[in-house]
Amino acid sequence: MRYELSSTSWGQEELDAMQRVMRSGRFTMGEQVRLFEDAFAARFGMKHAVMVNSGSSANLVGIAALFYRSTRPLQRGDEVIVPAISWATTFHPLQQYGLKLRFVDVELETLNMDASKLEAALTPRTRMVVAVSILGNPAPLDRIRAFCDSHDLILFEDNCESMGATLSGRHCGTFGDINTFSTFYSHHISTMEGGLLVTNDTEIDHLARAIRNHGWARDVPADSVINRGQRLDDPFFEAYRFIVPGYNVRPLELAGAVGVEQIRKLDGMLTVRRRNAAHFVSLFKDDRRYIIQRENGSSSWFSFTIILNPEYNLDRARVMDALRKADIEFRMITGGCFPQHAAVRYFDYDIVGNINNATTAHERGFFVGNHPRDITAELDHLRSVLNKVS
Ligand SMILES: Cc1ncc(COP(=O)(O)O)c(C=O)c1O
Repeated sequence: MRYELSSTSWGQEELDAMQRVMRSGRFTMGEQVRLFEDAFAARFGMKHAVMVNSGSSANLVGIAALFYRSTRPLQRGDEVIVPAISWATTFHPLQQYGLKLRFVDVELETLNMDASKLEAALTPRTRMVVAVSILGNPAPLDRIRAFCDSHDLILFEDNCESMGATLSGRHCGTFGDINTFSTFYSHHISTMEGGLLVTNDTEIDHLARAIRNHGWARDVPADSVINRGQRLDDPFFEAYRFIVPGYNVRPLELAGAVGVEQIRKLDGMLTVRRRNAAHFVSLFKDDRRYIIQRENGSSSWFSFTIILNPEYNLDRARVMDALRKADIEFRMITGGCFPQHAAVRYFDYDIVGNINNATTAHERGFFVGNHPRDITAELDHLRSVLNKVS
């Protein structure tokens, strides 16, 4: 039986939405993107959502915005506390903007940043913490938020893997001053490629709208603080006014239209994902050879992680071989332990204490897929294959 890592979450509604855009002849960012942004912000109870062409771009635009905001902007050489496990483009914009990273270990069971290590990571140069909820599982965002508040730090939440997850009833992706989401194919909702930056800070919203669009003033309201009295009366010059260094990371109108349909389906898909998770947990919770992700708050279960417990001598190569032969797809947990990758040689960074848990997860961990459909049979297949390996 084939057990895939991911599958489409689209139905006829998404295809119809794309057809409508095709027929309209308006393909570039427009009304549909704006409708999706408004629906997304409303769904998460936030003031602003800015759509871009990927979660990676949302991170990039968010970091750029923090360099151009009027109050205490970030500066090159500032330090940022980050978890040792995340996706590469959580980290890359930090390097690209000249920030120094301080990697903190994760908890082996939750796979999220170990909040008890935050104090040790703090220096007089620390300006920001990047919090990441790994694979649907809420990071200790309440503790990280309190830490940031008590030390006057920015909280940047990369929530690209955890749409729909909650901690104490509050949505992940709403704890940060800036929060980012991905709507890539395999994620909780999909717009093919896509991402959003979500914030309650109106200046950040305006900066993000300019930065995603060539640094252009076009989408920025006339009375915005970022126009800073420089608005020109001459319409010829006003039409092409560049106010910050930006990119072109705009989404397509097709992606916006699909997003409008997908966000309507989010709750139903989360229910199915959580039902699958209950079955996965029941199959593995009593088997100490496999460390599965311990839920913190309410996970939106992107996928199911398994770490081969170092206390037992399960051979990783044999396990992976058995999975391959049984047609079960699997992969590294997120991007693994980032300092293990060659890219880190371009970074200014240090490691706070040790990152032993992240290293164990990198070397002995993998994940299998969760889907917005019932996968009881696939999970039973996984369990029976792993029963036979040991
Ligand atoms: C934590 C995290 N941040 C950022 C991204 C980047 O999102 P995208 O693939 O939409 O660029 C991902 C992608 O999966 C991710 O897992």
